[in-house]
Order: sequence, then C-alpha cells, then structure tokens
Amino acid sequence: MTEFDPGRTINVVGDIHVGWTVRSRLDAAAADLARTNDLAVHRVFIGDLTEFSTSDEDAAAIAWLDSTGPRDSWSIVAGNHDLDSRTLAGWEAAYGKPGIWTLDFPTFRLIGLSAPDREGIRETEPQTLAPETLTYLDRQLGETSRDCVIVTHGPLMNTVIGSYFDSTMRFFATHPDEEIRAILAAHANARAWVSGHTHSPLETTDLVKAEPVGNGHLITAINVGSVAYQGGKPTDPSEPAAQPNYSCFITVTDDAIELRVRDHLTGGWSTINGAQVTTVPFASASR
Ligand SMILES: [Fe+2]
Repeated sequence: MTEFDPGRTINVVGDIHVGWTVRSRLDAAAADLARTNDLAVHRVFIGDLTEFSTSDEDAAAIAWLDSTGPRDSWSIVAGNHDLDSRTLAGWEAAYGKPGIWTLDFPTFRLIGLSAPDREGIRETEPQTLAPETLTYLDRQLGETSRDCVIVTHGPLMNTVIGSYFDSTMRFFATHPDEEIRAILAAHANARAWVSGHTHSPLETTDLVKAEPVGNGHLITAINVGSVAYQGGKPTDPSEPAAQPNYSCFITVTDDAIELRVRDHLTGGWSTINGAQVTTVPFASASR
C-alpha cells in the first residue's frame, strides 16, 4: 500500500534512548526502517538518541542509525538526553552531523533545530532555542517559497496534551514559545512543527492538530511518539517490549499535511482515531 508520494514524504522517528531501550524494540524498529527506506525521501531522528550521552552509547546509537539506511538518507536533531555534560557542538562532533540544518526537496523544505545545551532556565526548560537559532529559523522560512516542515525535539506549548508527559509541561515544550510563534505567524509557508520528547501514545489527545500561531495562520503540530517506550517511563526497560513501536510518515501535498503511522512491530500501518491517514489542510489568512 503506497498511495502517497514518497518524494514528498519524510519519516520522523522519535526518542530512541540507546543505552536504556530493550534490544527487541531497537531491533524491530531498525529492521522495519531499513525495509521502508523507499517510502520517504528522507528520515529524521528527532532527539534523545541516547540515554546518558556516553561515548559507548554514542557508538551504539551510530551503529543503530547506520543499520536503518545509508548515512545521507537520514538527519538528526539533539534532545535533552543527548546533551548530558556536553554542548550541541560536542554532540555534533560525536555524530559527524549538524544539529541545526536545512534540506531542500523539490516541493518542500525541511528545517532541523536543536537547543544549544540542556541548561535552559537552569534545566527546567531544556528545549530552549538560542536567539541565533530563532534568527536562523526566520531566515530559512523567509528565503524560500517552498512549504516548510520544522523538526525539533520539543513540541510547541499546549499542542499535544493528555499523555504522561505533554506539551503543557514547561520541561517538555520548546521555548521561547511567544517568539517562536511570532516567527511562524510571519511566514505563511511554515506548514508543520514536528516533535518527539513526550513519548505520547497514539491515543493521546492532539497528537496531530492544526495549531493557531497568530496572524490567522495555522501550523500542523505533530508528535511522533517514541521507539523507547510510550507514556510514563517504566522502571523496568523490558516492560515496554510489547508496547506499540511506531514512527510517522509525513507527506507535504500541494494543500495539506498528511500523516501516516508505521507500526514497526507488524510492518503495517496504524490508525489515529480510526483513520489510517490524518489530513490537515493548510490554513493561512495571508494566502
Ligand atoms: Fe525522550
């Protein structure tokens, strides 16, 4: 079943937590990701690649990432767990990939953002983007007419709600919220904000939603769940072995964002509220 255009589709994979996650979940996800490389033009791993940012975990995470597909087929952004006792620059050096980047495809632009460290307001808001990163976002949105999809570890505040961790918690949202929304509102081509971090199960409220950011502009907010575990973090890593293990295929059509959820345990497609495809039409007062 491929009724979507892989050339207009990205696959976004949430919180891996290599070093904590039970081997069977890592293996199942990697095998199915390797099988589905041709269903998307690019893949993004959206942070918390490791549990404690150790060099052993980095080596294991890199080997796992490489097992999913060729190195140029995927990109990464950093999560708070990737920045234990190191800055974004140290993490980028360890992985040989940037944490803040832009990739252009024929019909859309993909923008990856990371926090500079996990120190935001003394670690209570670790997903705090640096002022220069906000300037970067504004410029990347402004210099293209392509539709833009932003991928970063934390959700916009008050989007995905009702799971054990959610975007109403300042620790789990991206900051500074007001400044980010002002930038998104100023660019009608800002189409989607895609996040991980909250480990939200598929039945979570507003896992995908049309979020007003101001100026009559709505952006599609999507949370992609987690390979490691769904919901609250169990004390026993083997406990999530049979939990849903999924990632998101996001298609940018001419007038909408489409979301499909890939089930890595069955190699099939899951549903959200009974639907295999969730479609959120573009909405902007200025276009
Ligand atoms: Fe995480």
